[in-house]
Amino acid sequence: MDGQEQFEALIAADARVEPRDWMPEGYRKTLVRQISQHAHSEIIGMQPEGNWISRAPSLKRKAILMAKVQDEAGHGLYLYSAAETLGTPRDRMTEDLIAGKARYSSIFNYPALSWADMGAIGWLVDGAAICNQVPLCRASYGPYGRAMVRICKEESFHQRQGFEILLELARGTDAQKEMAQDAINRWYAPSLMMFGPPDDDSPNSRQSMAWNIKRFSNDELRSRFVGMIVEQVQVLGLTLPDPAIRFNAETGRWEHGPLDWEEFREVLAGRGPCNSQRLARRREAHEEGAWVREAAAAYARRQNATEVA
Ligand SMILES: [Fe+2]
Ligand SMILES: [Fe+2]
Repeated sequence: MDGQEQFEALIAADARVEPRDWMPEGYRKTLVRQISQHAHSEIIGMQPEGNWISRAPSLKRKAILMAKVQDEAGHGLYLYSAAETLGTPRDRMTEDLIAGKARYSSIFNYPALSWADMGAIGWLVDGAAICNQVPLCRASYGPYGRAMVRICKEESFHQRQGFEILLELARGTDAQKEMAQDAINRWYAPSLMMFGPPDDDSPNSRQSMAWNIKRFSNDELRSRFVGMIVEQVQVLGLTLPDPAIRFNAETGRWEHGPLDWEEFREVLAGRGPCNSQRLARRREAHEEGAWVREAAAAYARRQNATEVA
């Protein structure tokens, strides 16, 4: 069997492709793009929440939020490592990000305006991430699937901490309840758009599904997410800003109102409310961290030298 045949046999058997295996160039490229975009999203995603650590309303909330933001850094690291096994060095991925050449999830270009946003981000953004990522635990590329298993365990803690913030606010004063509702109103549509464009406008999805990278279509995952949050919002005693949500018994799917895909494209193209701020901050952090990378490299060289001697 040659490489191509072996690869096809692995995919047909729904088995895992490992870094040592031959793989088509398109498969490798798709994975590098998807995994690096995912890694960038974890790292850029630390900013809207990191911004609230110093303003958390109590020591307990501060500790929880700090742990959550730190988890996201860890997710970025697992994912950069998974992408590196495909032959693209992490330095290059970082360069592309800070040069504004790489994409990351459009959601992180929206501002976090109030403490309730920490709740809405955890509940809706991490919630959407879970819906998207649980099927990725079975992605055909081994290092990606294994990274996703660890990440998903932590994401469910993220979602619960967000939900709990909203629950406490919803049971608080009228002003607190209003703040929670306002945060949900602002994060609802962007979180639905996290699943990507509608199926008829998502040209790469079919190939990703044939390669067992993606298991469900964008619209399928979005509809599941809507079904999940439409029940949970009742526990909060709040509402979703979408009167068109309904369960379609014929298709077995949840439906929602129209989304502003023009806005989505604008944000992806770098013209969202916080794009330039997010990238500037990332660039600054990278430059400020240069001495840490140099020190770590010097330490590693010394360790190697000692081992050889
Ligand atoms: Fe994450
Ligand atoms: Fe998360």
